Amino acid sequence: MHRLPPVLRACAALVLAYLLLLAVARAGLLPAALQGAKAVGIMGILAAGAGLGFGLAPGWVAPLLLLPWAMDALLRSALPAWTWPLGLLLLLLVFGGGLFTRVPLYHSNRAAWAALLGLCPASLLRFADLGAGFGGPLAHLARNRPDGFFLGVEASPFPFLVAWLRTLPLRGNCAVRLGSLWALDLAGYDVVYAFLSPAPMPRLWEKARREMRPGTLLVSNTFEIPGVTPEARIPLPGRRDACLYLYRM
Ligand SMILES: C[S@@+](CC[C@H](N)C(=O)[O-])C[C@H]1O[C@@H](n2cnc3c(N)ncnc32)[C@H](O)[C@@H]1O
Repeated sequence: MHRLPPVLRACAALVLAYLLLLAVARAGLLPAALQGAKAVGIMGILAAGAGLGFGLAPGWVAPLLLLPWAMDALLRSALPAWTWPLGLLLLLLVFGGGLFTRVPLYHSNRAAWAALLGLCPASLLRFADLGAGFGGPLAHLARNRPDGFFLGVEASPFPFLVAWLRTLPLRGNCAVRLGSLWALDLAGYDVVYAFLSPAPMPRLWEKARREMRPGTLLVSNTFEIPGVTPEARIPLPGRRDACLYLYRM
């Protein structure tokens, strides 16, 4: 269980809590005083306990306590039942690719685009954006460096579609693929850019060290590789921790 991504462990904790409560109620062991709204609260407590037992961080306790209340409110609402799977599908289309990597969707700012452009070598250039999102950095670089080649890999279908459409006029030197960043061989790239989250950084570093050629550059926006000193940091405006970390292979 501890090896599963946190989101699956949270789902397992909720299902377990629900089944436990159901079994107790079916067996006639749930006192009348604890039925109704109180049972929803009990489910939250059971789910939070199970979640901690499954190794979830304390930050999951509040969502697990509150989710049964939210589900109860939704089930009582007048909206037709098909709206919930539809909502789930839309969420998966936008955020699904980052669910297991534990990477949400947010965007590099224009200062990061400009800094990346400055980092691109003057000679032959192949650049990869791992988790391309809506393709902002990719389009900016491809437009300003027609002599280079720019590839974005994006796992969530909706951001992929936006990035693909956005870079359509730049097809001569820019491509966007729907798929996992873990499947891309980094050997062919001079600059690899990632704006992900703290969770995948150790694995990304292992991959980069295995695949990237000596002298090439791994650039991480905001998230440091634990235990590795970057060659340089480029501060960015905006959030206090915003900066580009440069790791030379
Ligand atoms: C923080 S956004 C960065 C977007 C873009 N690179 C930028 O800087 O504006 C991270 C993106 O990585 C995508 N992502 C997360 N895990 C991924 C994976 N395993 N493979 C490909 N893309 C992934 C997410 O869907 C999200 O769109």
